[in-house]
This record gives sequence, structure tokens and C-alpha cells, in this order.
Amino acid sequence: MVNVAILGFGTVGSGVAEVLTGHEGSIARKVEQSVALKYILNRHDQPDSPFAPYFVKDFGVIEADPQVDIVVEAMGGVTAALDMTRRALQAGKHVVTSNKELVAAHGYELTQLAREQGVCYLFEGSVGGGIPIIRPLSQCLAANEILEIYGILNGTTNYILTRMIRAGLSFAQALEEAQAQGYAERDPSADIEGHDACRKICILSAIAFGRHIYPHQVPTQGIDKVCLEDVDYAAAAGKCIKLLGRAIRQEDGRICAYVAPHLVDQSHPLAGVEDVFNGISVRGDAIGDVMFYGRGAGKLPTASAVVADVIDIACHMGYRKALCWAQGGPEVACGTQGLATRWYVRGSAEADALCNALGGGTALRREGAAPGQAACITTRALTQEELEGCLDGAGAWTAIRVLN
Ligand SMILES: NC(=O)c1ccc[n+]([C@@H]2O[C@H](COP(=O)([O-])OP(=O)(O)OC[C@H]3O[C@@H](n4cnc5c(N)ncnc54)[C@H](OP(=O)(O)O)[C@@H]3O)[C@@H](O)[C@H]2O)c1
Repeated sequence: MVNVAILGFGTVGSGVAEVLTGHEGSIARKVEQSVALKYILNRHDQPDSPFAPYFVKDFGVIEADPQVDIVVEAMGGVTAALDMTRRALQAGKHVVTSNKELVAAHGYELTQLAREQGVCYLFEGSVGGGIPIIRPLSQCLAANEILEIYGILNGTTNYILTRMIRAGLSFAQALEEAQAQGYAERDPSADIEGHDACRKICILSAIAFGRHIYPHQVPTQGIDKVCLEDVDYAAAAGKCIKLLGRAIRQEDGRICAYVAPHLVDQSHPLAGVEDVFNGISVRGDAIGDVMFYGRGAGKLPTASAVVADVIDIACHMGYRKALCWAQGGPEVACGTQGLATRWYVRGSAEADALCNALGGGTALRREGAAPGQAACITTRALTQEELEGCLDGAGAWTAIRVLN
């Protein structure tokens, strides 16, 4: 028998408990032995919960029990989660997590610790919720040199942008609706400022490119400055606005990783990724482009990924599954200084003057545009520095990268 302890009984933890117990028979058939829930670490008494018999309040009980084989960390945050993950690994237990903040900040250390202890540290649920991406990237695409990964990595911001595009809601109205629907937290800053997508692109980059990239090395911009004028101008150009996390391998081996809104052509597969769905595109030198799509969050979709990691470990007990990468450093990531793209620019100017200032562009039109305001898409690919040089002295302007 394989015994599992779950840390945290919130959205993900309760989903994992439900899937583990609800699918007990089919999991046992796949693993060829039973996989049993033994403990749930929960701070609050919930005597009416069907899972009440599993509740413990002291992590020490789980740590000291030699019968616990796998610990599922579903608490979130980096303080208690880091401490308990270290202690579980040091006690020789495998650990599975959906905690992207922890993996993005401490993944190198924790995968090394797991390796030293001869156990696994797996985190399929940390990126893309229920979408299989970590295992495909680390195993199925292992024969490739990965050239680029980019995608819609955050369901909350994708929902907000979808409602701005489809229903004409302002950013504030769409955010309020997302909160009412339970798609955005009361403090939505980690999502709307792009930090959640940043953590995910760090994890994907580490797996794809083999070195740890830390969140502070990734220039991150959210969607809080995107307004309905931009949505309308983008539509006039046959494009829509999506928040993308992106990591591109440069010729010198450094990684250009960043998070920012982009104008995406309506014909691009990511344009059809709407509401809370996520879509991740990977370009490998052998496979070309491959895309992953599905529910990027939620109780059962995330539990699907977490329990799959538990099953994987249970199927290979006594055999360590290596999922690790090399240490990070300032030389690994190069920022976006050298990244030239076409740009969407909106500013207080006449359309011809704006296009001329940018060295050529396609002027965009939208109904109800205020006089003296114009928008265009540059003809040339420009770095941010070149763009700023062109617009020096041109008054207030807004710019969004265009996905090639
Ligand atoms: N929700 C999703 O759809 C989703 C998807 C993918 C990944 N994730 C990630 O999965 C993790 C968990 O997310 P969640 O949405 O399930 O969070 P959540 O609903 O807030 O649940 C977290 C649970 O952990 C408990 N907890 C926190 N610190 C604890 C501690 N020191 N000791 C004991 N219990 C503690 C909380 O207890 P209290 O109630 O007492 O605070 C709560 O029950 C996060 O890292 C999140 O980013 C979530």
C-alpha cells in the first residue's frame, strides 16, 4: 500500500482528497496496489467534513510517520510550504505540489534535495492546472532543443480580456465580474500584474532550457493598463489582446523571458483560447510547433494533474524520477532589451505623424476615436529602446508588442 498525506485543505487539497478517494479502485488497478489517503493537514476543525477522520494539525505527525510515502503540498505560499517540503524530502518522502510560487523561487534547491534523498519532487499542477505540460515538455519533447515557449498562462486575466473583447466591459467591470464568478481572488494583484504568469514561465523555462530562471529576472507587465480603446483598435487590425508569458532561446544561449500583453492575430490558435482557458505553444527544433490547451485552474482540473503525479510516483516506487535542472545565475536571462518586434502604438497625435515618427506603420481606425488621438502598428520590428527613441517628444503614448 502507498500512503498519501495532503498539506492544506483548500481548493486544490480538497480536490485531491476527492479524486484520490473517489477513484480509489481505478487508481489501485493502474498502480497495482492501493493508494490510500492517510492524513490531511488542516488548521481548522471541520467535524462535518467526510474527511474529518484524516485531519491532523501538526505536520510533525506526518513527518514522523514512516508509512507516509507521498506528501502533497497544496497550501500555497513560500514560508510554511518551503519548510514542510524540505522536511518531507529530508524524511525520505516524495513530494507533489501545485505551488508555482514555491517551484519558481526554490525549484532548483528542492529538486536537488529530492535527488540527494533519492525521492521525487513533481509539480505537474503548478503550470496550466489540469493541462499536461510539465511531463510532455520534460519527457515527450526531450529529443528536441526547445527554441521558444509562449502562451496564455493565467486564466483570470484571460477571462478579463475575453469579457473586454466580447462584451465591451471596461477593465474594472470585467475584474469585478471575474471576482463575482470566483475566477479572481479578492486581492487580484498576482494575476492582473502578471506575477502568476511570470512564475509559470520561470518553471517552463527551467525545464525547457535546463537552468533556473528566477521571477526577478523576468520583466513582467500585467493587463491593468489595457483599455477598451486598445481592444477596439486591435479588433480593427484583425487582432486581439492576450497576456503572454514568453521565453525565447537566444543564439548565445541566454533566455529572453518576459510577461506582457500582446496583439495576437485572429488566425493564431491562441486567439481562440478564451475565458479561463490556457494555451501553451512550444517550438522544438525537431517537432516544430506543438500546442497544449485546456483548463488552467480549478479544483478538479488541478487535482487531475496532482493525482497523476501521485500515481506516477506510486507506479515507480523505489525508483527516483529525475526532474531537475542546473543552478540559475545572472548570465542565464537577458531581459527584453534586444527583442525586436512590431508594436501597436496609441498616442495623442495625428495618424500620419505617428506613423512617420515610427518609420512607417499602418494607421488603425475605430468608431468614436477622440480627435487628435491615433493608433498604428509599426511596419518595422523595433526594440523597446528604438521605439522609445522614435517617440521621444511625441507626448503620451501606449505601446503593446505584436506577436509575430
Ligand atoms: N486554485 C487553483 O485553481 C490552483 C490551480 C493551480 C495551482 N494552484 C496552487 O495550488 C496551491 C493551493 O491553492 P488553493 O487554491 O487550493 O489555495 P487555498 O484554497 O487558499 O487553500 C490553501 C489551504 O492551505 C491551508 N494552509 C495554508 N497555510 C497553511 C499552514 N501553514 N498549515 C496548514 N494549512 C495551511 C489553508 O488553510 P486556511 O484555510 O486555514 O488558511 C487552506 O486550507 C497554491 O500554490 C496555488 O497557487 C491553485
